[in-house]
Amino acid sequence: MTLNKTIVTYIKKIYPAQNPVLLHCPEFLGNEKKYLAECIDTKYVSYVGHFVADMENKIKEITGAEYAVAIVNGTAALHILLLVVGIKPGDEIITQSLSFAATAAAIVHAGGTPVFVDVERETLGMSPESLKTFLLENTEIKDCVCINKKTGSQIKAVIPMHTFGHPVRIDEIQKICDEYCLLLIEDAAESLGSFYQGKHTGTFGKAGILSFNGNKLVTTGGGGMLITDDEVIANRVRYLSTTAKRPHRWEFYHDEVGYNLRMPSVNAAIGLAQLEYFDRILANKKETAILYQQFFDSISIKSVIEPDNSKSNYWLNAILFEDRQQRDEFLEYSNDNDVQTRPAWNLLHTLPPYQHCLHTDTPNAEYFVDCLVNIPSSVRV
Ligand SMILES: Cc1ncc(COP(=O)(O)O)c(C=O)c1O
Repeated sequence: MTLNKTIVTYIKKIYPAQNPVLLHCPEFLGNEKKYLAECIDTKYVSYVGHFVADMENKIKEITGAEYAVAIVNGTAALHILLLVVGIKPGDEIITQSLSFAATAAAIVHAGGTPVFVDVERETLGMSPESLKTFLLENTEIKDCVCINKKTGSQIKAVIPMHTFGHPVRIDEIQKICDEYCLLLIEDAAESLGSFYQGKHTGTFGKAGILSFNGNKLVTTGGGGMLITDDEVIANRVRYLSTTAKRPHRWEFYHDEVGYNLRMPSVNAAIGLAQLEYFDRILANKKETAILYQQFFDSISIKSVIEPDNSKSNYWLNAILFEDRQQRDEFLEYSNDNDVQTRPAWNLLHTLPPYQHCLHTDTPNAEYFVDCLVNIPSSVRV
C-alpha cells in the first residue's frame, strides 16, 4: 500500500460512522434538542431567557474567568473587545502571521493595523523571540507608550493565538508585553479546554475570546465569548453589544452608538447542552490524538503534539510532511478518497488586504504552510 493510502485507510477505520470523513463535524449527544424545544415552547429565542446566562456561567466555570459575555461569533467578540480596550484608528497591533483571517480582520474592523510576527515550531503559536526581536529593532518607549519608530504609530496590543488548541508560551509573551507597555489580548477561539501551566488559555492577558463556530469542539452554530477578569471591560462589552441601551422596562434610551452582537438564546441552548458533557468531548479528543500519534509514529510521519507545560484540547490534529510536494500529493489523494484534509492557512501578510502591513521574517510559519496538513478530528461516536 502507498503511504497516502495507508493513512487514508487508517482515518476511515477510526471514523467508521462518517462517509465522507469530515475535518470537524459537530456531534449532538446531549440535551441539544430538548433545550432548543424549550426555546421554541417558551418563545425565548433572542438573547432574553436563561440559556445565555447559563452558558456564560458554564464558561466561567471551565475557564476560571471572572466574567464571560456571549457574543454572536468570535470575530465580533474580538472586534468589540478591541474597541473597548481603546484601540483607535492608526494604532498597531501585533499578531502572528499563521492564523485564521478573523484575527487580522477584527483588528482592522476596530480601526487598527496588524503587524505580523513568526510562530514557533514547538507550539505553532506566536514566537516570543520573534516578537521581542521586532520590538527591540523597531520601537521606543516614551512614558510607557510604545512607538513604532518606522511608522510613528503607537503599538497598543499583542494578540497571540493558540493554534489548533495548542497553548503558546504565554508567560514569555506576557513578560514582553509588560516590558513594552503593551496590552495582552488572547485569541483563544480554537482553545476552549486548553491550559498552560494549569491556567486556561484566554485568561492570561487583559481579556480573551472564544469561538463556538460549527467546526469547534463546542458549537452554538455560530457564536463567540469574551472572557476576562476585568469587570469594567466585561460590563462595557455587554453594554455596547446590547445596543448601548440603558436598562429600563419600556424606555429606549441609547447613550452611545451601540452594536447588536449578543448571542441569541437558541444558539446558547445548543452550546449549554454541549458544555454539559464537555469533559467527555475533551477525553474523546485526547484519545483520538493518542491513536493518531501512535499510528503516525509507526509509519514515521511527524504529528503535532501538545507543547511542554500544556494541556491541549487537540481541536485539530496535524501531521507534517517532508515538503510541499508530499503535502500536495496527500491533500489530493485524501480529498479524492472521501477524507477531508486541509493545509495550514496562507500566511496573513501574503493576503491582499494585509500585504502592506509590517511583518518579520516568518521561516517557521512558512515551514508549516509547506508541510502541515490538518486531518479529521471530530469527536468519534
Ligand atoms: C484563530 C481564530 N480566530 C478567530 C476566529 C473567529 O471565530 P468565529 O468564526 O466564531 O467568528 C476563529 C474561528 O473561526 C479562529 O480560528
